[in-house]
Amino acid sequence: MCGIIGCVTRSRDIVPVLIEGLKRVEYRGYDSAGIAAIERGGELGIRKVEGKIDKLVALVDEHPIEGPTGVGHTRWATHGVPSELNAHPQTDATGKIALVHNGIVENYNALRRSLEAKGYAFRSETDTEVLANLISENYDGNLEAAVQAAFAGVQGAYGIAVICADEPGKLVGARNGSPLVVGIGADAYYVASDVAALVRHTRDVVYLDDLEMVVATPDGFSTTTLENEDITKDIEKVTWNIDMIEKNGFPHFMLKEIFEQERTVQDAMRGRLIAAAGDAILGGLRDHRRALQNAERIIIIACGTSWHSALIGEYMIEDLGRISVEVEYASEFRYRNPVINPGDIAIVISQSGETLDTLAAMTEAQRRGATVIGIVNVVGSTIARQSDGGVYTHAGLEIGVASTKAFTSQLTVLAAMALMLGRSRDISVTEGRQIVRAMEAIPGQIAEILSRHESIKDIGTRYARHTNFLYLGRGYNFPVALEGALKLKEISYIHAEGYPAAEMKHGPIALIDERMPVVVIAPQDAFYEKILSNMQEVKARGGRIIAITSEGDDQVEKMADDVIEIPRTLPHLTPILSVIPLQLLAYHMAVERDCHVDQPRNLAKSVTVE
Ligand code: M6R
Repeated sequence: MCGIIGCVTRSRDIVPVLIEGLKRVEYRGYDSAGIAAIERGGELGIRKVEGKIDKLVALVDEHPIEGPTGVGHTRWATHGVPSELNAHPQTDATGKIALVHNGIVENYNALRRSLEAKGYAFRSETDTEVLANLISENYDGNLEAAVQAAFAGVQGAYGIAVICADEPGKLVGARNGSPLVVGIGADAYYVASDVAALVRHTRDVVYLDDLEMVVATPDGFSTTTLENEDITKDIEKVTWNIDMIEKNGFPHFMLKEIFEQERTVQDAMRGRLIAAAGDAILGGLRDHRRALQNAERIIIIACGTSWHSALIGEYMIEDLGRISVEVEYASEFRYRNPVINPGDIAIVISQSGETLDTLAAMTEAQRRGATVIGIVNVVGSTIARQSDGGVYTHAGLEIGVASTKAFTSQLTVLAAMALMLGRSRDISVTEGRQIVRAMEAIPGQIAEILSRHESIKDIGTRYARHTNFLYLGRGYNFPVALEGALKLKEISYIHAEGYPAAEMKHGPIALIDERMPVVVIAPQDAFYEKILSNMQEVKARGGRIIAITSEGDDQVEKMADDVIEIPRTLPHLTPILSVIPLQLLAYHMAVERDCHVDQPRNLAKSVTVE
């Protein structure tokens, strides 16, 4: 969703830093962009556009601004349509204070009305302009004091960066429910909503927690609570390198990330599998291993692709760990009246670690007494920090809005967790060793699938003009069908539905004719014979079949119009392989249709609003 970057230096012009930082957070999704800098004459220079950063760059080229202190923003519209007027930075009535803001102010109407009663007039429809004026109303020559006073009355989520022309060498940031990180550079200090915005300049960062703020000047920075109590924060090292935020020769981040999976799946299991004992050790769960073993029920909570991982995790943990598992959409869980029994464990899965619904559901689970384990990709993210224990997926920065490598890394961690639980219950050392061997073979098998990229591309290109697709799978591959359909619809805008194959005859079969391609995930597992029957049903109605099947399978080959083979593995590990051709199919159909693969319309990488 929205992105924030702010920078303060002694004398360097920071406009290029702001623009570059905004480009790095483009992937989060946005519809307008803007920057503000305190120019050397002490005036606030502001440039904003509706649309993409290239347009902002053109505007700044035509009407330059420059200065050593500034803020920038990419906005994903919530309050008010995407427009130049509603874009951030928003300024106060005096034009001296410029504010960028992520999140939503819940009592925005009441705040706006009380400011209007004091004579303030508003130009935009945004809650951010209300915040800028609220700070102004409380300003008495000290920006941080004004921010503290203003936010005492603000309800809702925010991450902000603010500057004031009357204090040209000062940058103030604050957060509550929306991430903000402070970057410590050689000759500059930064604030950003996302480490990607500042990793080119520094790897030394401080993660702010809720209700904390930072004041940065060219000489240093200090952190306090919003109630002005001093706090000392640890400086942490970002482990990413710059390659992670470049495409490295790939036409899109999504394709690069699909190809990274050989390594990222390896990274997700690195140091966590013990071959001799046929077991897994997950450091972040050390304190919770007994609670997990004794749990009568595990609830897995997530959204989107992470929810599909959760479904596969349910099958894995029930199969191997023999613990009852329920999977919940975070957005439903948070507003239901869920039953949490003593000893229940909630696992939350999130790539970004910032998804608002997941965060709220996790808070609710904790409030009701559950121990919450996070499976999170982004290090230092809110969900990672708020969980009672957790496991990082180590997939590295995922930039493509369509999640790919994060999904297979989540599955790898879930498989390790299921193994760990299984070994403490029913799984023998021999079986455990067999599972470890199969897991260790997965990265090489991913490479094998990726070596078939050209033929998958050919299939994707040939089918790209169809307007409806059905995805079918059974058992472990039912959630993979859901994931394949989600990938296709989000990046190519083709309508696609995922179904458990046996459910087809309860309704979707009515849709099948020669214009409805059906993608069937049919590896040789316990459901093989059954899924062959489902394929017969599709063929009998003239449907076209693209099948994902096990290497060397000639039965499926006879029935399907197109076949993509995947290497053989244990049933619960199959999804890590079977999803990869589906990611590639969706990618190539989207490219063929000329879609904006990395930033599909209306979508944001990290959904930090309801
Ligand atoms: O960051 P999270 O894993 O919490 O995100 C959850 C969903 O928003 C995300 O998976 C979304 O569905 C992706 N666009 C899927 O590709």
